Amino acid sequence: MSEEPILSVRDLRITYQTGRNSEVVAARDVEFDLYPGQSMALVGESGCGKTTLGLGLLRLLPKLGRIPQGEIVYRRKDGTTADILKMGKEELRRFRWSEAAMVFQGAMNAFNPVQRIGAHFADTLKDHLPEGKRLSKTEIRERSEELLRMVRLEPGRVLPSFPHELSGGMKQRALIALALALNPQVLVLDEPTTALDLLTQCSIVEELHRLRAEFGFTMIFITHDLGLAAELADRVSTMYAGRIIETGTAEDIFYDPRHPYTSGLINAVLPVVGDLPQLASIPGSPPSLATLPAGCAFGPRCEYVQDRCREAVPALEPLTDRPDGLTHATACLRAEDVQHSREVVSRA
Ligand SMILES: Nc1ncnc2c1ncn2[C@@H]1O[C@H](COP(=O)(O)OP(=O)(O)OP(=O)(O)O)[C@@H](O)[C@H]1O
Ligand code: SF4
Ligand SMILES: [Mg+2]
Repeated sequence: MSEEPILSVRDLRITYQTGRNSEVVAARDVEFDLYPGQSMALVGESGCGKTTLGLGLLRLLPKLGRIPQGEIVYRRKDGTTADILKMGKEELRRFRWSEAAMVFQGAMNAFNPVQRIGAHFADTLKDHLPEGKRLSKTEIRERSEELLRMVRLEPGRVLPSFPHELSGGMKQRALIALALALNPQVLVLDEPTTALDLLTQCSIVEELHRLRAEFGFTMIFITHDLGLAAELADRVSTMYAGRIIETGTAEDIFYDPRHPYTSGLINAVLPVVGDLPQLASIPGSPPSLATLPAGCAFGPRCEYVQDRCREAVPALEPLTDRPDGLTHATACLRAEDVQHSREVVSRA
């Protein structure tokens, strides 16, 4: 790993305007360093802020989303750094796709149904080239073919097809190829396997492993599937009510979680091999962002809760001291008391 992070996020806050004078904070106090080549999974239940954070990192939030606070320092391919939050329109345009790209949640259904896959590739390649650079029709076709081959799709079959003529797995591969069109250093994938059957999920995961090994990009992988996170990520961050409440290596998180929420998420994972365990789910559901409980937001669902948990929001405190952002840290006042016993069985 390099000594310099590729992304350094500090004190990041993301809000959505919900009314004329009201807003909710969908991500808060987010801080992490991501190093070149690392793969970080963001996990958590629905509504915890995973997509918001992923979109925020690339300044791709919807219209009512805002980033009123924080810093996202990015190290470009040429080694210079810039705060993504301070980039102007043109600089952002150059940054997206050629430096960092995203495969959006649910994007498989966002292919234009009346446009052939080849046209989607041509549009992406034309729209996101650096200023002043043009590709001929032949160059566009050759690059589209090359990209499809990279994800092991047959260009002759895929480029002339309409989206409905491809299976879900083929569409997801095509989307990954599109995201890689301009050789980004950072790839954010938001639930890329959610709508796929298990076998297809496994083949996409295998594909991502292979592509990472070949192209060395840094990856942020958003998922509510802990099994996938275990397979794809070197490090895992758990989100709850818009905050990262635990972070560490995949081993730390799966075998020694120190936050009751992380432990609960892991206990709810269904192994594909081995004896069927007694699955434990976390009682209740995440709080409304508009009315967060006092102190630790997980308090109302936490079996370890004490009065002191309601006094202040627990900070993310380091438990280990490791380099390259691999420190195990948790935002729980009772981290030492959390018991976690179940063995995680990978689906590999
Ligand atoms: N455009 C929006 N306007 C207002 N609130 C929003 C908007 N998008 C998301 N939110 C709120 O922000 C919070 C986080 O949503 P987000 O989509 O980031 O969660 P998520 O962890 O990605 O969930 P999922 O697993 O369902 O994809 C939710 O409470 C959601 O209601
Ligand atoms: S701080 Fe308290 S309420 Fe929050 S997770 Fe830890 S023990 Fe539970
Ligand atoms: Mg999401």
